[in-house]
Amino acid sequence: MVKYDLIDFKIRGDARGSLVALEKGTEFPFDIKRVYYIWGTNKNVIRGRHAHRNLEQVIVCVSGSCDFILDNGHERTTVHLDKPYQGLYIKSNIWREFTNFSPDCVVMVLASEHYDEADYIRDYQTFLSEISENKGV
Ligand code: TYD
Repeated sequence: MVKYDLIDFKIRGDARGSLVALEKGTEFPFDIKRVYYIWGTNKNVIRGRHAHRNLEQVIVCVSGSCDFILDNGHERTTVHLDKPYQGLYIKSNIWREFTNFSPDCVVMVLASEHYDEADYIRDYQTFLSEISENKGV
């Protein structure tokens, strides 16, 4: 089983619409150090194609939909994201690719660390060897 969680955020909705607030220490598994978001991506583009050595992320499709393919080196699973009140929580050492973007898709990513290229594993074979080395520790 590829490890991930889907977190349902509390919706503060009323007749005017819906609101989700994500505040340090309450709705969240880690302290957020960085937020980035992606939009205007063509349907069949594949983004991601990397793993992280230490980073944790919560990914929210705040508009539209897309698919996240998660790979732990042994198994792959696809998570369809289409709910602005749901966060996909991924820890480190998971290879991820995301694709199948709807035209209105906006993906917001909340990250536990600042951007650090040294934390990225961008080559799949390197990912496989690093996770098998980690298991031996
Ligand atoms: P990239 O890692 O290719 O995005 P994705 O994995 O979502 O497809 O990032 C695209 C560019 O943006 C790349 O030059 C690195 C830069 N970038 C930052 O400067 N800060 C960030 O927090 C992120 C995620 C990317």
